[in-house]
Amino acid sequence: MNAFDSAITPFERASQLRYLTCGSVDDGKSTLIGRLLYDSKLIMDDHLLALEADSEKHGTTGDEIDFALLVDGLEAEREQGITIDVAYRFFSTPRRSFIVADTPGHRQYSRNMASGASNCDLAIILIDARKGVLTQTLRHSLICHLLGIRSVVLAVNKMDLVDFDPARFDEIVADYRAKTARNAFEQFIAIPMSARFGDNVSTRSELSPWYTGPTLIEYLETVEPPLAAGSQGFRLPVQWINRPNLDFRGYSGTIVSGEVAVGDQIAVPRSGTTSMVTGLIGPTGPLQRAGAGEAITLTLADDIDISRGDVLALAKDRPEVSNQFAAHVFWMVKDPLLVGRPYLIKLGTATQTATITAISHRIDVNSGEQAPAKNLQVNEIGFCNIHLAHSIVFEPYADNRALGSFIIIDRFSNQTVGAGMVEYGLRRGTNIHAQPADVTRQQLAMMKGQQPCVIWLTGLSGAGKSTIANLLQRKLMLLGAHSFLLDGDNVRMGLNKDLSFSEADRVENIRRVGEVAKLMVDAGLIVICSFISPFRQDRAMVRELMPEGEFIEVYVQTPLEIAEQRDVKGLYAKARAGQIKNFTGIDSPYDEPEAAEIVVDTAALSADEAADAILLAIKSRLQPAG
Ligand code: ADX
Repeated sequence: MNAFDSAITPFERASQLRYLTCGSVDDGKSTLIGRLLYDSKLIMDDHLLALEADSEKHGTTGDEIDFALLVDGLEAEREQGITIDVAYRFFSTPRRSFIVADTPGHRQYSRNMASGASNCDLAIILIDARKGVLTQTLRHSLICHLLGIRSVVLAVNKMDLVDFDPARFDEIVADYRAKTARNAFEQFIAIPMSARFGDNVSTRSELSPWYTGPTLIEYLETVEPPLAAGSQGFRLPVQWINRPNLDFRGYSGTIVSGEVAVGDQIAVPRSGTTSMVTGLIGPTGPLQRAGAGEAITLTLADDIDISRGDVLALAKDRPEVSNQFAAHVFWMVKDPLLVGRPYLIKLGTATQTATITAISHRIDVNSGEQAPAKNLQVNEIGFCNIHLAHSIVFEPYADNRALGSFIIIDRFSNQTVGAGMVEYGLRRGTNIHAQPADVTRQQLAMMKGQQPCVIWLTGLSGAGKSTIANLLQRKLMLLGAHSFLLDGDNVRMGLNKDLSFSEADRVENIRRVGEVAKLMVDAGLIVICSFISPFRQDRAMVRELMPEGEFIEVYVQTPLEIAEQRDVKGLYAKARAGQIKNFTGIDSPYDEPEAAEIVVDTAALSADEAADAILLAIKSRLQPAG
């Protein structure tokens, strides 16, 4: 279960509190969760005996029971099941039942926390009284805030280790309040406690007579966290098309908000088509109506185009459909998030190629202030504009957590690299429509008597790309072909003179060149591009811009030693001397092409022979399409 396929009905909220515990094992997180389970008598007697024995063996708490062992033990078990992001622990007191979203202790700040928190109404933020407010504390607070949690308990733990000193407690609380002032929580309480000895967890401590507030359990039993308003419109992200035989076609998924009934008129907002609900089937059989949180299969009166990733809604209450939105993003991996680079975004049940087109700012975790950013590093949180390849249904996170949260996936490693929350759709995305041109690209190509394409030369600096590209263009001209040459050094003197050789700027360099090359191909030209273009992802991005078969990647292959020996422009020497930074092959990487259409080995071929080899490979394009 994760944030993207679960939902909470108002009914469930009335009797339950869902909360998240933020903090590390060192802060006493496991001990606190264990203590809550123990004090609410949830641990079975035989578990308890085993725990006492274990604590004697491994414990770090002397004769006391080490609650952390209990929780950590469960954790180790859980980690073997790779599909579970967040473990939920359930416990109850006579007054209320609780669901605790717990995340593995050592991977604090991750997708797990994001998906755990997005289902919660309250967060307990743990602080070690000896250490006070740490950057991690502030980071967790900021994430909780962005995830729409309005209620926080600051659990100032390990008070026994600071002699239950009220001055220390006040100091920590004041510090926390000051540092989170910009993103303050609507509902806030600080409780001094010792999870290990149980002080102020379920019983009031005699060691802190100066504290007059509730114990943690008392507070959790009675608190009424403010809830986000949220839209209640019917939304069903389609998980799969259920088609057991030719006579039946149903759309299956979990309703994330609202209600639907047989007879309702529904719409597929992406395409605008509508139909009537003829049947609803739940896990136990046919239903007349179904609501948020229920997994159903729905049948329709008409056979309309619906696929996985579509969201069904009532025809009279349709959500926004667009391919651009502004969102908060947190970045989770060492490789930075780069503007212009394509990633995959999974939102609801839809997965789409997407690029971050701009980072408006990043949020400084320590001050809460907005700071300028060109990229996002690991653990950084930024506010970004995101552009999707195709329009999808989404909603602001504040209205609909399920359709407002997404994860970002690396297209090559398939790793989850970030998570985000939609703040608002960008109108620009919906109000720009492709303008059909009267003269088509086919006609323009026909007039030139050729089949236009991009010939993309990639390779190290000094590999011979420019030389080969020039020879190739001359040969094309002699054959009467219409071509144009875009070369790294030249483009960087004009269109791209604002760009450096940082990773982010190289991505932007290639993105712009890709767009220009595409326009030129549309105009009917054979476009030769000569760029180091060191990153596989960016070459793939240009390939995807072009119609199938019109991007021809040529790997100009030269071992680094040879390129460095040639050193035509003296740049390798400068790079080795540290006078040029981020030099490809020296202190900046080059991803070798894995499936280039053409490879020319410049150690074996002269530049002229290499140009001939390319020419031979594309010769069929020098006549009109058949
Ligand atoms: S790319 O990496 O963004 O594709 P591009 O092909 O436009 O690079 O430009 C490469 C040219 O810039 C090289 O041929 C070289 O003359 C020059 N150059 C200057 N600094 C660097 C650097 N740090 N790394 C690579 N090339 C550089």
